[in-house]
Amino acid sequence: MLKMAVFNTKPYTKQFFGRANERFGHELVFFKERLTDQTVGRAAGFDAVCIFVNDTADAPVLTRLKELGVRLLALRCAGFNHVDLEAAETLGLSVVRVPAYSPHAVAEHTLGLILALNRRIHRAHQRIREGNFSLDGLMGFDLHGTPVGIIGTGKIGTEVARILHGFGCELYAYDVEPNDQCRQLGVQYVSLDDIYKTCLIITLHCPLMPQTHHMIDAKAIDKMQDCVMLINTSRGALVDTQAVIGGLKTQRIGYLGLDVYEEEGDLFFDDLSDEIIQDDVFARLLMFPNVVVTGHQAFFTHNAVSAIAETTLDNLSKFEQGQCQNALSCGLHVVSEA
Ligand code: NAI
Repeated sequence: MLKMAVFNTKPYTKQFFGRANERFGHELVFFKERLTDQTVGRAAGFDAVCIFVNDTADAPVLTRLKELGVRLLALRCAGFNHVDLEAAETLGLSVVRVPAYSPHAVAEHTLGLILALNRRIHRAHQRIREGNFSLDGLMGFDLHGTPVGIIGTGKIGTEVARILHGFGCELYAYDVEPNDQCRQLGVQYVSLDDIYKTCLIITLHCPLMPQTHHMIDAKAIDKMQDCVMLINTSRGALVDTQAVIGGLKTQRIGYLGLDVYEEEGDLFFDDLSDEIIQDDVFARLLMFPNVVVTGHQAFFTHNAVSAIAETTLDNLSKFEQGQCQNALSCGLHVVSEA
């Protein structure tokens, strides 16, 4: 049995981890606070620390964790752009993650954004509540036959391709490693420029890395079709938000669907409804009628959250047995799986 501090806990974290842990029997202590340089001291006496997408895991925090005797950092998410892996390697601190829990959850939410934006469901809902049954401004387009570009065809991008194939879309993709599953669905792999030039919907499913930071910038937007729909359910900083606001103003971007935002750390996952939003860029985004933003909830299904808890606790058990399962960095000698 290992002792794990679970940071950044919400009621659903406790519920799903508590239930899954009946099988694993580890000692879990839940902290509401995010892991930061201010809260890291709470990790004293724990073998492992569990964090989510918006906790801090930079070199100073990792160094402090190591000093406190923590041996394992368990990410309860797939993305790891917020973790200084180089520092973890140097410190000999093991880092594990949940590489796949439900590509369906994120892919289906992506479709939710596409359909809501296209058929203006967010606007229609507001209107009907006010007794306005006019259809002016609500006209959409058939997804059938629409050219869609998928950037990143890993687990989630491939699932998006599968769903859009069912809608009868014309599918294009860009990935540094194309896959046959997508090709079999009729996806044509093309250059990024060809995606920008051809597609009326562009959806992002690649990881955030130095090479992909702000890949959607003013230059990329200039190459896109007029009135393009841009969807980002991957990581906020793939998109240069200021450039996208420029594109919305000129109407080069006709629809924007975001589940992630580059400065989401100060906003998402908390109830700020009684506070004044200080982020003017985010506030500007919310003023556009053709923008739908959700607060990083694409992963949030029963199935996915339950799989996240199971895999995280299984990673912890394997670590106890001397294995680094789903490892990004392994302070142990045996690596069973990359
Ligand atoms: P994955 O690792 O299966 O797929 C990523 C794909 O991106 C791979 O095919 C890879 O070759 C490709 N890629 C890498 N560099 C690229 C580049 N420069 N240009 C184009 N493609 C590139 O990852 P998965 O599971 O499909 O997740 C994708 C992203 O979705 C994650 O990185 C994560 O940030 C995000 N995500 C968001 C969630 C949410 O709740 N909004 C939940 C889970 C993941």
